[in-house]
This record gives sequence, structure tokens and C-alpha cells, in this order.
Amino acid sequence: MCGIVGGVAQRDVAEILIEGLRRLEYRGYDSAGLAVVHDGEITRLRRLGKVKALAEAAEQCDTSGGTGIAHTRWATHGEPSEANAHPHMSGEKIALVHNGIIENHSALRRQLQSEGYHFSSDTDTEVIAHLVDLELKNSDSLLEATQKAVSQLEGAYGTVVFDKDNADKIVVARSGSPLVIGLGIGENFVASDQLALLPVTRRFIFLEEGDVAEISRRDVKIFDEHGKQVKRDIHESDVHYDAGDKGPYRHYMLKEIHEQPQSINDTLEGRLNDQGVVLQSFGSNAESLLKEVKNIQIVACGTSYHSGLVARYWIEAMCGLPCQVEIASEFRYRQTVVPEDSLLITISQSGETADTLAALRKAKAEGFLASLAICNVAGSSLVRESDMAFLTRAGTEIGVASTKAFTTQLVALAMLVSAVSQVKGSGDCSHLRRDLEHLPALIEQNLKLADSIEALAEEFADKHHALFLGRGDQYPIAMEGALKLKEISYIHAEAYAAGELKHGPLALIDADMPIIVVAPNNELLEKLKSNVEEVRARGGVLYVFADEDAEFESDDTMRVITVPSMNNWLSPIVYTLPLQLLSYYVAIIKGTDVDQPRNLAKSVTVE
Ligand code: M6R
Repeated sequence: MCGIVGGVAQRDVAEILIEGLRRLEYRGYDSAGLAVVHDGEITRLRRLGKVKALAEAAEQCDTSGGTGIAHTRWATHGEPSEANAHPHMSGEKIALVHNGIIENHSALRRQLQSEGYHFSSDTDTEVIAHLVDLELKNSDSLLEATQKAVSQLEGAYGTVVFDKDNADKIVVARSGSPLVIGLGIGENFVASDQLALLPVTRRFIFLEEGDVAEISRRDVKIFDEHGKQVKRDIHESDVHYDAGDKGPYRHYMLKEIHEQPQSINDTLEGRLNDQGVVLQSFGSNAESLLKEVKNIQIVACGTSYHSGLVARYWIEAMCGLPCQVEIASEFRYRQTVVPEDSLLITISQSGETADTLAALRKAKAEGFLASLAICNVAGSSLVRESDMAFLTRAGTEIGVASTKAFTTQLVALAMLVSAVSQVKGSGDCSHLRRDLEHLPALIEQNLKLADSIEALAEEFADKHHALFLGRGDQYPIAMEGALKLKEISYIHAEAYAAGELKHGPLALIDADMPIIVVAPNNELLEKLKSNVEEVRARGGVLYVFADEDAEFESDDTMRVITVPSMNNWLSPIVYTLPLQLLSYYVAIIKGTDVDQPRNLAKSVTVE
């Protein structure tokens, strides 16, 4: 979750590191710190809170030095505090940053304390710094010491370390947490995400699991998990960092909500043809693989999991294939039975979510026919490790609450449904392309609901709980609406399949808990209406998002918001928009940090 940047250059690196941290702040924002070395002395600066505080502190002191490391933290072990902020040091000699979790840190801490090491933080990271220092006493180089140290670690790490007495090199190690090396001219860098290094280079090496590398100004030496020196490919990046500017919007989240017509358009661009969907969009061998698929298993986390849940309704109804959907953190540790010719689909905005990656790696040993990643980040671990990949083109998503990533995932999954229907000949697909093409304009129309939803949001300001209801493929949309509301407004919200109400949750209904209903005019509308009446009969206050022809009427206990929709299988995508806007405007009224809500991070690279 934490962000890491490091560099070895002739010029001073502090500013480069701080700019890199700004770009990685979405990963964690509890504290930030840097350490640079100059004339054999380390300058370390750490601040609680966001990178801004660190940048201000850096302006007040001398941070010159050509070798440095920096970090933005999402606390796992030890509260957010300056003492727990990275970099951590061993004596005045070793400085180290780390992303991940060291599971055997308690045992290592005891062992190091018995060797005379003093700990100044509650973090698991500090053990790595002392361990490197200990191993350095019996090693010829920092590289060797780091290799020996990481071989004793259990858990996940992306770590970068330097020794002030040999400050022309930094050593980096990756296992379970991503690291990318940025190649400059006469200078080299490392980061947990290439976004951090785009101001200084576009040439990247993605480290693989178990790699340890020694980086100097003119050289990069990489060693694999067996200690054998290896060559890794250099990639020329075409990634754009387009998040610098919020434009006219107050928050990235609002900007990203409004970008959805464009990001959906981009995701469709060049991928539709007369047959429906260009099959190669899923990979060069997609056609032959999809023909063989008899079962689909989807694995993802959070919002991405919700898009998988919608897809299950589509896949089973339109492709006639069985489909299971599971949260990655459960799937990865469960003994699973894999039906013959199963396709594994992982869905992730970042492509670095630890549980989703672990699920993919577990599945590789379990006899799946193939794996397909639906992902927003080219070059991410998930994309590189999957057999096939479909890139959503949402552009960089900075707001922690996922919006445009979600709707483009749904578009990707809708295209997959079209592709499978095409290759299997399972029904008439002619309307699928047409429906997809109409989508951006419809989303644009839904954005016009912003003003009325902003007014509605006032009614949620003093609420502590909310219930979201949906049926069929709108049930996952209700789940997504509830997740958005709790994530950024801190109002406790849950979603229920409306038919399940009478099996317990009806007991919660009173005038203090708003009930939000997603009600397109589909085959389940009449059933949903009965559920709505059950709530009204018990004094519940309802907010119903409905198609114009769904025939709900506003009164004292029910507010109806008409959603411009097209009444077809893609309506879950359309109904997502008003719920995103609702959570955004409620959060504004509550005064929360919309883009970086408390306790969260954009990319969850620890389990
Ligand atoms: O990058 P991923 O899509 O794998 O991330 C999965 C979840 O962490 C993410 O969707 C999370 O639930 C969002 N913050 C929700 O808005």
C-alpha cells in the first residue's frame, strides 16, 4: 500500500523523490519521509500526514544529496506517527523503506534485540533495517547483506536500502510488493509504481518475484530468487500521468465521475466491429480459448468484485455458461474444485491488489484453462502474469473511491459477454454492439442529475445508517452504492437483495434510516415494488432511483429520482452514476476528505 521512490544520481534527488511521492500518495497518506546521503552523512526527514507536510519541511532544510529514498505510508504495524514513518534506520548507517508486511517480525525483533539492536518504532519494517546491518558485518557488499536479510523474511516486501558508507548504490528487493526500476542517463531510480518516475524517465524494468537488484548511477545488476544474475526486459512506457490537474472540479472523484462518458468511449474505441466485438481485444489467442471455455470463475476485491457480480448475471443469462464470483482474499485460501475448461477472470483497477494477484498465482497450479485479467494498468503485475488481458482505458484514477474504473470494467465485461456469445453462437448478438455504442451518451445524460442529487444529499447529512436495495443485476449496484457511501461519507451503509428484507433487515426500518432503491423497469420491477411497500408499511423513508416508466410517485415518505435509462441489460452501468453522485455530495456535506478518505489507500498491495 505504501509508496516508494529511490534514486542514485549526480544531481540532488530530494525534489525528484518528493514529486514521486506526490504521485504515489494515493497508495497511502498516513505519513511521509525521505533520507538522502551527502558527504557520508544521512539527512532524514519525516512528517505525520500528507506529502505536503514533508515538502514544506524539506524547503526549510538542506536536503542535498545524490542518493536517496522516500516513502509514503499506509500504517499496518504501529500507529501513524513520526516515529513509525519511513525511512527506518539502523544506527546512523543504514536507511530503508518498505512496502508490505513482514509476518515473522516479532521473532526477528527478539533475535535482533538479543544481538543488541535498539528499536525506535513499532513497525515490522525496522527489523529489515537492523537485519541488513547485522548481515553487513559478515558480507562483502550491501547487495550480499540484503540477499541474506530478505532470505529470512516471511511475508511480503518491496524494499529499498542504502548504506551511507557506500552511498553510490542502493539495493532493492521485491517479493509480493511491486517495484519498478527507472533507467535514466547517468542516473537510475526505483519506485513502487512507474507513475512516480515519469518526470525523469520512460524506460522501465519491472522486477519479478524474488528479484534483488543493485542500482548505481551507471549500472543495474539484477539477481533472481536463486541469486543468479539475470537480464530483465526494458519497457518503453506510454503511460500518461493525467492527474496533475483537477480542472474545474473540486475533487478528483468528481472529475473522474464526469470523465465516464469519455473513458467508456475510450474503452470501446476500435474494439467493436460488424460481428460485435473484436476478439483480439482480449488477446491474440482469445478466439480459440473462448471457444473452449465451459465455465467462468471471477475473482476480485472491493468495487472490482461488484463488477464481477454483475457479470455473473450477464454471463449465465446471455452466454449460457456457469459462472462463479468470489472475493480474492477468500478464494486464495480456500480449497477449490475447478470444473473442466474453466476460465479464470481477475478484475482489478490497479493490477497490484495483493489478494487478487495471490488468487491468480494460486489458480495457476489448479488446472484452469487460461487466465484473463481485466485491468486498468498496462504493465501491472496482474496483466503481466495473466495469459490474456483486456485493458480498460479509464485513465489514471486518483480518487480512492473507484468510479470510472468500475464502469469501464462493466463495459469490458459486457464486451466479454458479446465475445463469448459470438464465438459460441449462443443467441442473437446484433443488439449488443448497438447497446454498447449508445452507452456514453446515456451516461452523459445521467451526469445532468448532479444538481438534483446534490439537493437530495442534504437529507443524508445527519444520518448514521443507510440501506441500499436492488434485485437481479442491480443488487451488485446497490452493493457498490453502499460501499461508495460508507467509504467517503463514513455513514454505515449496507446493501440487500430486496427479496431478502423480510428475512431479517426489516427489523431495522425506521424514519432515521434512509432506504435507497435502484429500480429500473425490468422483469423484476413488480417484485421490487412489493418490497418497497413492505418498507413503507413500516415507516421507512425511501429514495427510489427509477426509470421514467417504472410508475413510482413521490410523496411524504418516498422521493423518486428519474434516471435516464435505456431499459436493457446495460442498465446496471447507467444506475451506477446517480449512486456515485449521491455518495459524493453526501461526503461534501459531511466535510470528509473525499479523495483520500481516512484509513484507506488506493492500491491495496498488502493482504
Ligand atoms: O485495484 P483494485 O481494483 O484491485 O482494487 C480493489 C479494491 O481495493 C477497490 O476497488 C476498493 O474497494 C475501492 N476503493 C472502492 O472504491
